[in-house]
Amino acid sequence: MTVVGFIGAGNMASALARGWGDPVLASDSGSGRAAALVAELGGEALSNAEVFARADVVILAHKPYQLAAVADPIRTDTLIVSILGGTPVAELEAAYPDAPVIRVEPNVATAVGAGVTLLAASERPEAAIARELFGRVGKVVELPEHLIDVAGAVSGVGPAYWALIAEAWADSAIRHGIPAPLAATLVAETMAGTAALLTQTDTLTLRRGVTSPGGSTARGLAALERGGVRRALAEAMDDVVGG
Ligand SMILES: NC(=O)c1ccc[n+]([C@@H]2O[C@H](COP(=O)([O-])OP(=O)(O)OC[C@H]3O[C@@H](n4cnc5c(N)ncnc54)[C@H](OP(=O)(O)O)[C@@H]3O)[C@@H](O)[C@H]2O)c1
Repeated sequence: MTVVGFIGAGNMASALARGWGDPVLASDSGSGRAAALVAELGGEALSNAEVFARADVVILAHKPYQLAAVADPIRTDTLIVSILGGTPVAELEAAYPDAPVIRVEPNVATAVGAGVTLLAASERPEAAIARELFGRVGKVVELPEHLIDVAGAVSGVGPAYWALIAEAWADSAIRHGIPAPLAATLVAETMAGTAALLTQTDTLTLRRGVTSPGGSTARGLAALERGGVRRALAEAMDDVVGG
């Protein structure tokens, strides 16, 4: 079994580790989150140096601005997979000059095996290890590195968008008399079913298929258009990509 080590044991490290479900090595900067993670999944909470020394693959899961502080004391040739948002491979390789580095951007749905992980295309043979590892917790999409940030503005931030939309939608159902837990279930299951359908058909076919002329779905869709749903999503994309 590949021994995975995490530098950082926060939200994204926990999502990945839960998705894999295996014991891990993990570090943190003193919060105790690494100990909590290994209490849940097995493994050991260690120092950064120990994680680098003992793991087969080290996942950089701290914040991007912490790269130099974490890397400076480390000399390693262990495979590094970075999930640091907006941090180019060239910068990672400069920080870890002796190690093979692969850059990915996963999303939190990896926790339930339904993630999307963007992988910056790499000639390195070690990319196969990252493909296999992240393929176990969802879909891996390989693309040129210059597209990672734009693609991440869909898949990386997307779960938060859908959480917001789910909340607003459930609230409107509650306003019309549906109990909150039932509203949450109806929304989540409808989203999950629709997402499954959209892996097999295109959006227009799906929409036309459920929209009778002059019917209730048509009225609901018209209200969403009037409310600016397209413009809101386009502006969200522009603001994320524009930084
Ligand atoms: N959240 C997402 O959806 C998402 C998606 C894709 C990529 N990412 C990337 O994932 C990375 C982590 O994001 P996050 O949301 O998981 O952040 P987070 O919850 O704040 O976790 C960051 C972790 O890094 C640890 N850390 C900080 N300095 C450290 C050091 N010197 N040595 C060891 N560990 C250190 C923190 O330790 P303490 O626990 O002690 O504070 C914490 O456990 C970021 O680079 C982000 O760009 C996140």
